[in-house]
Amino acid sequence: MSTYVVVGLQWGDEGKGKITDVLAEKSDYVVRYQGGNNAGHTVYAGEDKFVLHLLPSGVLQCKGKCIIGNGVVIDPEAFFDEIEQIEKRGLSTDHVFISSRAHIIMPYHILLDTYREEFAGKGQIGTTKRGIGPCYEDKVARVGIRAIDLLNPGILRAKIEENLLVKNALFEKLFNKEPIRFEDIFQKYQEFGQRLKKRIIDSEFELNYAIQQDNNVLFEGAQALMLDIDFGTYPYVTSSSPTTGGVTVGAGVPPTSLQNLIGVSKAYCTRVGNGPFPTELEGETEEHIRKTGYEYGASTGRPRRCGWLDLVALRYACMINGITHLVITKLDVLSGFDKIRICTAYETQEGKIIDAFPAITDELSGYKAIYKELNGWKENISTIKSFEELPKTAQDYLHFIEDYLGIEVYLVSVGPERSQNIIKTHLS
Ligand code: GDP
Ligand code: IMO
Ligand code: MG
Repeated sequence: MSTYVVVGLQWGDEGKGKITDVLAEKSDYVVRYQGGNNAGHTVYAGEDKFVLHLLPSGVLQCKGKCIIGNGVVIDPEAFFDEIEQIEKRGLSTDHVFISSRAHIIMPYHILLDTYREEFAGKGQIGTTKRGIGPCYEDKVARVGIRAIDLLNPGILRAKIEENLLVKNALFEKLFNKEPIRFEDIFQKYQEFGQRLKKRIIDSEFELNYAIQQDNNVLFEGAQALMLDIDFGTYPYVTSSSPTTGGVTVGAGVPPTSLQNLIGVSKAYCTRVGNGPFPTELEGETEEHIRKTGYEYGASTGRPRRCGWLDLVALRYACMINGITHLVITKLDVLSGFDKIRICTAYETQEGKIIDAFPAITDELSGYKAIYKELNGWKENISTIKSFEELPKTAQDYLHFIEDYLGIEVYLVSVGPERSQNIIKTHLS
């Protein structure tokens, strides 16, 4: 049995897509298990740039199967757009399958997401407006439409009718908007079902069998711990569990089957959307990191908020995920600083020093980050291939992170290309 889980440890966009793409070369299966097309994973294959939202980032390199698990929410339009984009570039997508149990994002979910954000005014979460939250809500409320339902016109009809009754009441009476017409969506989603049919499988059986048969199975998380519905900066989070634990419910694979738990963190922090961010920078330093790291959202194009690495949040993320192997990406972006700061504790508004990540989001906004200042390096490190070749101060930076977390760095990424990696330790 060889299983690998790749998860984000910060607020998303850590470079999970690149790492998944690299690991996918040797994988028999690559599996998304939560989130939807709110994700944006940029993968460079030579000169070619691919931005994947819903398909597993292993789709380009995996010679086996790519599976969108039951825990993912699927917008069929987004799915077909992505399939088309990949096929246009001469690649096959015949190896992409979706779970019969995955929930479908319907047009009313996208509208609800959008209207709610408009309605919230200053309390906006800053969602991607892709209907993610409302789709998960319907799943839990037991009124969701699953991939398998698209194949049964009777069930689909009844479910859409039931949903429109409630959703249209909200649109018209609360949001003062136009209702959705049944005829406008029923036929369309039935046709989507027919187009998806050949890809719909009971993936939990296939995955458990594949693991039993000693295949290499890679699970790819979207979003990240700080956006987790339980452990993130609630309510400024997404609506799923982007943790290693999320694999068990999002793919139907038991915890005993999970081995290499790979956590991805940038060498600094970024966040898109609203919510607390203790190490957030302002002014020139932030702008420098944003420009050098090209920190703009892959899904929405929004500038990402940038800050120094936050070890308090990172240690919490590693604990919840049980991380066994750490990946540090974008170390190249920090080249050129005289001094690099790294957050080791927070100071509360009452002057108390804490190094445990708090549950009260509102309080966190008022916390001051306490930094350790380390020496920077000037060299361009983007072509370096071994840890020993890194400038001593860059090595010290990585050792400081390892010591604080008590976890070894497995891979250091020094550029967006597949080959720009330093392998420091090996996976089991
Ligand atoms: P994901 O959502 O975690 O997959 O990350 P994104 O793809 O949204 O954002 C990461 C961005 O950083 C992408 O544009 C990547 O091409 C890029 N990237 C990944 N690793 C590195 C790295 O080590 N150095 C640099 N400079 N860019 C990187
Ligand atoms: P990847 O996989 C960064 C953020 C949104 C918003 C919050 C809730 O590329 O790392 P949602 O649409 O999910 O209801 O929005 O979560 N968000 C992400 N931020 N990377 C992502 O994915 C994100 N997916 C959602 O900006 O703050
Ligand atoms: Mg992203």
